[in-house]
Amino acid sequence: MSLAQQRVFILGGSNGMGLALAQRLVADGAQVIIGGRSTARLDDALATLGGQAEGLSVDFTDAADLARAAQQLGSLDHLVLAASSDAAWGPFAQTPADALRRALEGKLIGYWQALQAMLPILRRDGSVLMLTGAASRTAMPGTTGLAAVNGAITQMAQTLALELAPLRVNVVSPGLVDTPAYDGLPAEAKRGLFEATAQRLPVGRTGMSDDVAAAMAFLLDNTFTTGALLDVDGGARMSR
Ligand SMILES: NC(=O)c1ccc[n+]([C@@H]2O[C@H](COP(=O)([O-])OP(=O)(O)OC[C@H]3O[C@@H](n4cnc5c(N)ncnc54)[C@H](OP(=O)(O)O)[C@@H]3O)[C@@H](O)[C@H]2O)c1
Repeated sequence: MSLAQQRVFILGGSNGMGLALAQRLVADGAQVIIGGRSTARLDDALATLGGQAEGLSVDFTDAADLARAAQQLGSLDHLVLAASSDAAWGPFAQTPADALRRALEGKLIGYWQALQAMLPILRRDGSVLMLTGAASRTAMPGTTGLAAVNGAITQMAQTLALELAPLRVNVVSPGLVDTPAYDGLPAEAKRGLFEATAQRLPVGRTGMSDDVAAAMAFLLDNTFTTGALLDVDGGARMSR
């Protein structure tokens, strides 16, 4: 794999899909740095990576913290934006604009300023990979806020790919994936959500982090792909 020895910073690499990508890339010989806010979570993640990666504590909602992180990183071949600290779930009529503002800060603005901070240290013909979400690709009641935030990121990608070329910019849009992001739900509610979704999907199951990590690794590695959007959602756009 051509990612061996390449330096990849995964913002949101201490959990879920970002961590699954880190596990793949470490196995392929890449130099992986995982980023997130909690040092305890970073340490737990690093333990699963067998000491073959580095951790960097950073909050992507804080521009000054990102500038400090870029200085510490020094140089990068690839930047992966796989974090999200807030989401505006719920029916439109009951979702206050403030919830949307927080969700924008906790993902879209975070991605925006993380990419701006890392641009000076990114290899000119390296790549950026952003995780969005199936809510922006398929209409589902209760997900207008998710559609707005993730749709904005998806729409930015091709313009960025032109403006920042030869840097490649790609997007992966995951469907419902079993990650610690759902740990806050009561067990019964989580089971209900996952079972109902699996029944609706053409593939008959919900996603695992590694389903998405495999797609992310492909887009990092394939130097003839830019401005691409890859749906890894079990066919959510055709769900019954
Ligand atoms: N899971 C799904 O079903 C699903 C579906 C569609 C789209 N997505 C999107 O896919 C991405 C990954 O989701 P996931 O489920 O794998 O997430 P996750 O398991 O909740 O992990 C999120 C990661 O982001 C980090 N993070 C959160 N806020 C941060 C901040 N302000 N600054 C820096 N790092 C921060 C977390 O570490 P700390 O908390 O320690 O900072 C953690 O490493 C997200 O963008 C999410 O919106 C997920």
